[in-house]
Amino acid sequence: MGLREKSVRVLRIGHRYVRDYRTLTHLCLVARAFGAESIYLEEIDDGLLESVKEVREAWGGSFEVHQIASWKRALSEAKKEGRLVVHLTMYGVPIQDKVGELRSHDSFLVVVGGPKVPGEVYQVADYNIAVTSQPHSEVAALAVALHELQGGEELKKEFERSKLKIIPSEKGKRVEKLK
Ligand SMILES: C[S@@+](CC[C@H](N)C(=O)[O-])C[C@H]1O[C@@H](n2cnc3c(N)ncnc32)[C@H](O)[C@@H]1O
Repeated sequence: MGLREKSVRVLRIGHRYVRDYRTLTHLCLVARAFGAESIYLEEIDDGLLESVKEVREAWGGSFEVHQIASWKRALSEAKKEGRLVVHLTMYGVPIQDKVGELRSHDSFLVVVGGPKVPGEVYQVADYNIAVTSQPHSEVAALAVALHELQGGEELKKEFERSKLKIIPSEKGKRVEKLK
């Protein structure tokens, strides 16, 4: 039997000190594909919103991108709603040591950083979790964390109201066009 369906939202803390439009787009696409409902970003541009909208219209689902004025408020509202705040950081506790505890919760706010993460985030988070104790990327950390939190159930997610649907094949590309 699969796990109960989880409700997962993502918060990305940090402004773009460098032009990392592709990273932000990849973060949104990974969050969507791996079963998150929405992502909160401190900075959005029209190109990013347009890319995510195009993907949603073609491939379905209801994933949303929200701009927020303050990460602190987003985080405290998530806590008020009863979401478990899981901050991903290489300095945290290895995910494999905490995954059992984490999976006993049903709703999460998964927090990832950008170039610099304020120290306060480590204090307010319910868990500081590492996906390996090595530096890598918020996109990779998010993918693994979403997979672990949902026990792999997200791999079977159906995206409703899509225009396109892949027919998985051993070789080649098969895509069904839906009306
Ligand atoms: C490129 S890193 C920059 C981290 C930055 N040096 C800092 O002040 O923490 C961006 C984000 O990727 C995520 N990340 C990178 N490596 C990670 C790891 N091993 N485990 C969990 N998250 C990681 C964290 O969310 C981090 O904030």
